[in-house]
Amino acid sequence: MNITKHKLFLKLLLVVIILLNSYLAINFLRSGRYLSMSQEIPFSHKSHLKYKITCLFCHYEAENNSYANLPSTKDCMMCHIALKTESKLLRKVIYSYDSIFAITYKKTYDLPDYVKFSHSVHINSGIDCATCHGFVEEMDSLYQVRNLTMGWCVDCHLNPNKYVIAPREISGIVFSQGILTAYDSALFSSKHFGYFIMPRKLAPASIDCSTCHY
Ligand code: HEC
Ligand code: HEC
Ligand code: HEC
Ligand code: HEC
Ligand code: HEC
Repeated sequence: MNITKHKLFLKLLLVVIILLNSYLAINFLRSGRYLSMSQEIPFSHKSHLKYKITCLFCHYEAENNSYANLPSTKDCMMCHIALKTESKLLRKVIYSYDSIFAITYKKTYDLPDYVKFSHSVHINSGIDCATCHGFVEEMDSLYQVRNLTMGWCVDCHLNPNKYVIAPREISGIVFSQGILTAYDSALFSSKHFGYFIMPRKLAPASIDCSTCHY
């Protein structure tokens, strides 16, 4: 083969590889997966959840509202008024309690504003937090576990039983025995998740554009 042609081919190949790599990198960054924020107060889910405090104890709005609240200073002080009060790590929390300054946290999970999402519909259908947020009780600093893409939402809406983790005690999502027997309860099993009783078999959810977009 002609040597200049050969070089041209290699250059073109290089350009293609660079383009492909940047395409993959941009897609990965857009999905936000593994994103982790450094917070002003180094709150560790792991060291709190080992005492079996439930998710809904702190994120109590999630059950009834579209958003899941973050706990306020007062919520922290329920325990820390008397616990670890000497700790350097808690100085900002105590300062906030004694002043008008609220604690702020950076958002890790963040959908674009044109997307409608509701925690309460999902939680009241018996979908555990871990389905979408992973095993937060094992995380010191929280990170994003799923790609927050449209494909992720739609895949699960089309075939929820493949993805859903049933409510766990640690989440604080309670299903009464009545609901358990009223629905066709199936044993959900997975290598990663252990065994959970599904409170109900989930029918596919809507994928109309207006379900998730205004
Ligand atoms: C239900 C009680 C409870 C609530 C509510 C609570 N904590 Fe804690 N917190 C604890 C316990 C217990 C520990 C000790 C954990 C350990 O090290 O085993 C702790 C430890 C900590 C520590 C580490 C202190 C150190 O020196 O190791 C920080 C920081 C902290 N909590 C921040 C917070 C913040 C911020 C909030 C509110 C969002 C909060 N906590 C709410 C019980 C609570
Ligand atoms: C003691 C209170 C407390 C408990 C219990 C708790 N959290 Fe949190 N959670 C917080 C605080 C404070 C933050 C903000 C700091 C951060 O993002 O790391 C937070 C942040 C989060 C975020 C990220 C929010 C964002 O802005 O993107 C998720 C997701 C979350 N928690 C899920 C859970 C789940 C799931 C559980 C149960 C396994 C749980 N939390 C239990 C206090 C708590
Ligand atoms: C079906 C998936 C799904 C389930 C189940 C789920 N979340 Fe979320 N969560 C999300 C998404 C998506 C966001 C980002 C929402 C946004 O930016 O509007 C989010 C955001 C959050 C936030 C940040 C505040 C907010 O509302 O934006 C917290 C805290 C949180 N979730 C906690 C929980 C807890 C606790 C549970 C279980 C009781 C739970 N989530 C169950 C998908 C889920
Ligand atoms: C793990 C599975 C799963 C994931 C992931 C999921 N959903 Fe859902 N979603 C469901 C199920 C199941 C329902 C139906 C609940 C019912 O009708 O009981 C639902 C219902 C909804 C509803 C209410 C629909 C209605 O008819 O009222 C909205 C809005 C919604 N989802 C938005 C989203 C968005 C946005 C995302 C992605 C950020 C998402 N969902 C991710 C399983 C999921
Ligand atoms: C189950 C929820 C859900 C449904 C149903 C849904 N979307 Fe989305 N859509 C999302 C989420 C979440 C995002 C933002 C994440 C992303 O950019 O992938 C999004 C992003 C988009 C974007 C912006 C994409 C980009 O690259 O910036 C467009 C355009 C869009 N959707 C159109 C549609 C249309 C058209 C339909 C109906 C056929 C639809 N969506 C149905 C959840 C949904």
